[in-house]
Amino acid sequence: MNAFIVELARSGREVRVHEDQSVLQALGAAGVEVPLSCQQGVCGTCLTRVLAGEVEHWDMYLTPEEQAVGDQFLPCVSRAAGERLVLDL
Ligand code: FES
Repeated sequence: MNAFIVELARSGREVRVHEDQSVLQALGAAGVEVPLSCQQGVCGTCLTRVLAGEVEHWDMYLTPEEQAVGDQFLPCVSRAAGERLVLDL
């Protein structure tokens, strides 16, 4: 898996997501709380708005059409397709 940066738009903070971490794990380690439940991309609890950057979707919650729009993602399983995602957090 790839490493990348998530930028938290509301605080301007940047959090590095390592190869072996989910976005949710990286956020948690940085003290950023996102509601979570299944951690398998199924329940939708961790749904987060994406303001910029391309998402690599791994969830089974969003429809293919919603995934294609790319303005939201499930950070328990999905990742950045590029080097950076800007999140509405
Ligand atoms: S925690 Fe269930 S989809 Fe992320």
